[in-house]
Amino acid sequence: MIEREKNSGKKREVDSKATSDENSKFDASLRPQNFAEYIGQKNLKKNLKVFLEAAKKRGESLEHTLFYGPPGLGKTTLATVLANELGVNLRITSGPALEKAGDLAAILTNLQPNDLLFIDEIHRLKTIVEEVLYSAMEDFAIDLVLGKGPSAKTMRLEVPRFTLVGATTKFSGLSAPLRDRFGSVFRLDFYDNSEIEKILGRSAKILGVAIEDPACKKLANCARATPRIANRLLRRMRDFAEINHAGTIHLKSVEEGLRDLGVDEFGLDAHDRRILEILVKKFSGGPVGLSTLAAATSEEADTIETVIEPFLLQLGLIKRTSRGRVATPQAFELLGLEIPENPKLI
Ligand SMILES: Nc1ncnc2c1ncn2[C@@H]1O[C@H](COP(=O)(O)OP(=O)(O)OP(=O)(O)O)[C@@H](O)[C@H]1O
Ligand SMILES: [Mg+2]
Repeated sequence: MIEREKNSGKKREVDSKATSDENSKFDASLRPQNFAEYIGQKNLKKNLKVFLEAAKKRGESLEHTLFYGPPGLGKTTLATVLANELGVNLRITSGPALEKAGDLAAILTNLQPNDLLFIDEIHRLKTIVEEVLYSAMEDFAIDLVLGKGPSAKTMRLEVPRFTLVGATTKFSGLSAPLRDRFGSVFRLDFYDNSEIEKILGRSAKILGVAIEDPACKKLANCARATPRIANRLLRRMRDFAEINHAGTIHLKSVEEGLRDLGVDEFGLDAHDRRILEILVKKFSGGPVGLSTLAAATSEEADTIETVIEPFLLQLGLIKRTSRGRVATPQAFELLGLEIPENPKLI
């Protein structure tokens, strides 16, 4: 059983590529429900399976688990998979949705033993809420302060043993005490092209649309190594194919579709290219600090850091140095500019 807290569906502010309601519904129908359906992330899956089997064997709750990595790589999906594999209830909420200590207390005291509580965007928890979470994670009890001033009383409430699953796109945004309370921490990696192809194949089947192999390969190449983007592109391509190409997605319809969407052969879109262009043209390739880059591009620093930049780093188009972001020679090449003889670049 999955229960979603009222506010948790609200649009994430840090993610300019956040899914709309329509997209979330689409996401939900394609979301893998068990390990067999969850493609890729081999190492992570292998380790998780061991922990899960061990917990099951002992009849205990799974240790608190944290997933981090760029948006759309499958953190929320893993929480769903874990709950299904463990056969326990999944309770979903998010950092910004928990405004008061009482909000968290209400959720915790209503959990069943061994339930899985998923807190998305856990780096955005308020300090007062985070402090309640510490004792809940460690001692399975919470201390609530009732009243104010000299007459205030502390009340200790037991909570059932539960598993906290946290997800974040910004690992560095988590306080050290919170980080340390997780029994296991997993980083999600970008997917390789063959994995994205498998994801596209699976999604196309669920959506009941035919996709030819070369079209699937091309789409996989342009999906930023990210399942959510692969699925989103697939849906757009299905629209193009239905209108212009009698319902089957072939290479030609994909090429046309990607061009219309402004997605290039590396999967970069207008946002990415703008950041790159400003870094290269305005700042001669850097180094430039994140906040300066954010101001120059009118993007939030958080959006650049957690949404746009990870894939540019992955492609080797930019580098992070102690003095700021630097464009690599490949970035100049991609933009069709001459590579300057600049020792800072290497
Ligand atoms: N390993 C996978 N195999 C198949 N599909 C996947 C996989 N991982 C993710 N997906 C698909 O991608 C979509 C996005 O994944 P998910 O919502 O879990 O990402 P996320 O990491 O939680 O992103 P965010 O940080 O934005 O919350 C899912 O709805 C699912 O359909
Ligand atoms: Mg998520």
